[in-house]
Amino acid sequence: MSKILLRGGTLITAAETFQAEVLLEGEKIAAVGKDLDAAGAEVVDVSGRLIMPGGVDPHTHFDLPMFNTVSSDDHYTGMKAAAFGGTTTVIDFVPQDFESFDQAIDAWHAKADGKAAVDFGFHMNVTHLDEKVLRAIPRLVERGITTLKVFTAYNGRLRLQDGEIFQVLRVAAEHGMLTMLHAENGDVIDVLVAEALAAGHLSPDWHARTRPAWGAVESVLRGVALAAQAQAPLYVVHMNTAGGLDQLRYGRARDLPVMGETCPQYLFFTEEHLKRPDGAKWICSPPMRTQADNQALWEGLGDGSLQTVGTDHCPFFFDGTRPIEYEGQQVAIPGKELGAADFTKIPNGLPGVGDRMPILWTYGVGSGRVTANQFVALTSTNPAKIFGLYPRKGALVPGADADIVVWDPDRQLTYGVAHARHRTDYNLYEGWELKGYPEKVYLRGQLIVDGEQWLGRAGMGRFLARQPGAPVL
Ligand code: URP
Ligand code: ZN
Ligand code: ZN
Repeated sequence: MSKILLRGGTLITAAETFQAEVLLEGEKIAAVGKDLDAAGAEVVDVSGRLIMPGGVDPHTHFDLPMFNTVSSDDHYTGMKAAAFGGTTTVIDFVPQDFESFDQAIDAWHAKADGKAAVDFGFHMNVTHLDEKVLRAIPRLVERGITTLKVFTAYNGRLRLQDGEIFQVLRVAAEHGMLTMLHAENGDVIDVLVAEALAAGHLSPDWHARTRPAWGAVESVLRGVALAAQAQAPLYVVHMNTAGGLDQLRYGRARDLPVMGETCPQYLFFTEEHLKRPDGAKWICSPPMRTQADNQALWEGLGDGSLQTVGTDHCPFFFDGTRPIEYEGQQVAIPGKELGAADFTKIPNGLPGVGDRMPILWTYGVGSGRVTANQFVALTSTNPAKIFGLYPRKGALVPGADADIVVWDPDRQLTYGVAHARHRTDYNLYEGWELKGYPEKVYLRGQLIVDGEQWLGRAGMGRFLARQPGAPVL
């Protein structure tokens, strides 16, 4: 069994910061402490470096069909990008677009298993409900899936009615599963989109103008209230508004088991970005809002009202007619240009899985908005706990998987598409100055990223079958 001793580093966990050595044996962390027995181990000097548990991104969409194209990262390219950014576990969403959950899961395994480059789990979208589907929900646990996503928007495509969401929440809670909510108001969006199109308003900024912030605010409260009535836990994904956060706090103040995730894009960008000539790059749902919303979400991370930072990674090319080079091949995948003449045809989604940790380190920890320990909690330990992976993931303790990021706090670089490894032609953080970056990344004891070198391979990532009954944070 391979043995590696990381010596001289500073460990950062969700709770504390301390000097210690870490001994990796095979796939596991064998010991954490001082003066560990290094007999037979390869000793790696990590003096001046930080050691953190590998990141857990609870929200990705790899190889996802949308609007006559597909998200441009598949389960290999996306997970490789994740690894370069310090993330060693992702949880990807399975669409319900098949005859049965089993067929949907089989289809997603067929996409993911041979390509996965880091460990991964699945969430199941519930976008159509009847008695058969309700009965099938508990059986998802047998397939290692304990989390369900429902939508209050995308009428006629993904949305469930409130009574249906209530039923999903209830059956999920009965079986120790967690319901996740995409909170926007689908009815209002439909009216506003129809009016915008009729008036000839076709530019990207109308994406945000037809999805008002109030729709997110009221549907977060609706979700919280439905969860209360169903006596069920709820996790609100990709939270984008100060008002939505207020509603989450309203529920948490009443001891309801409700949690929230935000994503880096909602911390840094606003509706104004959609007005740029390349505004389509920022199109995602829900949209980015205002600087006041950015600020409020930072405060929510700092005060513990929000539990995680995911990415909602769902990239598309900005110009999918122009190939990029990816691992020596020319690749072009139709993308945002599909909606050049009509914002409703722009595929919704952004790259981000590799950006999350480096961007949050510099602009969150570096600017004092969150501490280094909160950074670990938000990007690794909390998602591991909420999604039933802890302490196997998200922890630097003996017995945990040896998923480790050796972080160089002094590395400075100008970030952008050339650094991020996503398979797309742009990056939202182009030209941003970073200080602090992953140097080495281990997946279950194997070094998969060493500086700029990729040592991982397709198929080495393992499916994580999860157990019900995860805690609510
Ligand atoms: O625009 C986005 N977020 N695309 C991915 C699907 C979703 O709703 O999370
Ligand atoms: Zn969503
Ligand atoms: Zn999503």
